Amino acid sequence: MASNTILVVGATGQQGGAVAKALLELPTQNPPLRIVALTRNAQAERAKKLADSHKGVLELVQGDSSKPKLIFESLPKGSVNSLFIVTAPAMGGSKLTEEEQALPLIDAAVEHGVKHIVFSSVERGGDERSWENPTSVPHFLEKHNIEIYLRDKAEKEQGKFIWTILRPVAFLENFKPGMFCSLFTAMWASALSPGKKLQLISVHDIGKFAAKALTEPTKWSNKAVGLAGDELTLDEARANFNSVTGKKLPQAWGILGKGMLWAIKEVGTMFQFFEDEGYQVDIEARRKDMPDLQNFEAWLEEPSNGWTN
Ligand SMILES: NC(=O)c1ccc[n+]([C@@H]2O[C@H](COP(=O)([O-])OP(=O)(O)OC[C@H]3O[C@@H](n4cnc5c(N)ncnc54)[C@H](OP(=O)(O)O)[C@@H]3O)[C@@H](O)[C@H]2O)c1
Repeated sequence: MASNTILVVGATGQQGGAVAKALLELPTQNPPLRIVALTRNAQAERAKKLADSHKGVLELVQGDSSKPKLIFESLPKGSVNSLFIVTAPAMGGSKLTEEEQALPLIDAAVEHGVKHIVFSSVERGGDERSWENPTSVPHFLEKHNIEIYLRDKAEKEQGKFIWTILRPVAFLENFKPGMFCSLFTAMWASALSPGKKLQLISVHDIGKFAAKALTEPTKWSNKAVGLAGDELTLDEARANFNSVTGKKLPQAWGILGKGMLWAIKEVGTMFQFFEDEGYQVDIEARRKDMPDLQNFEAWLEEPSNGWTN
């Protein structure tokens, strides 16, 4: 039987991994799903782990999204129906800009015959405003440029493919147990006024939204939507954390939070955006799309997130 083949970028990472998992958890689809996961190194531990944990239902393809010809050479023309794209910012260790990772891949995918491209971007102040607001945060601006490229290409190449842009806010996974959780809290405390709320989303839910978009293309065709499951002041986040775990939300010394905001300029600019403008997702609308959307408490209660196991 013919299959619906979905190529997932970043499946060895947080978002792509959640997308692959959410696709595999869907009820049986007709035609059946075939998931192809892109990795730059199929021999790396995390790629082998991904393939082993989804044996028989997920295949790896090796390649770099900036050199997409090589990726599509191994996949017969027209065989891939949909593509999920996530990009890694230079500050996350990538040597490529986010445009360098995404634009050639978009071009090659359309040339190959991909019919639906789902891009995970970042929220920039509302579903409409985000189109006009690249912001001064470099890795937000790069995602903004990719969005415009994708939208305009679809318009130029009328009918060849459709797109969906998902715009997540700050990840709840920033609060996984470990040093980064304390640092994130310290930056939040240092950069945001006490009454200012920060919107949050679980990566698990980003995966579920992407899986919906990939398997219900008509409903999500040419839509750009912000994704958030909660919005909290830091005091509210502390209270939620304490009520679920019985502990104090870890927070590094103020000097460390301030130091990070100062030393990593890009992170400082991003927290300044949180204070001055902030994410503006319509959470109630998203909850209508997905009634079990996780808020901070639900995320903390999930044992696999490390606080209640
Ligand atoms: N953290 C937050 O609060 C937050 C909020 C909103 C948006 N974001 C955005 O989320 C993005 C990161 O997503 P994530 O956390 O899912 O990333 P991640 O866990 O760091 O994973 C990055 C993935 O990208 C793949 N990759 C990197 N460069 C590649 C290339 N040139 N070709 C092919 N694959 C490549 C890696 O695969 P291999 O190593 O296997 O090749 C890996 O699977 C960033 O752009 C960030 O701005 C983050």
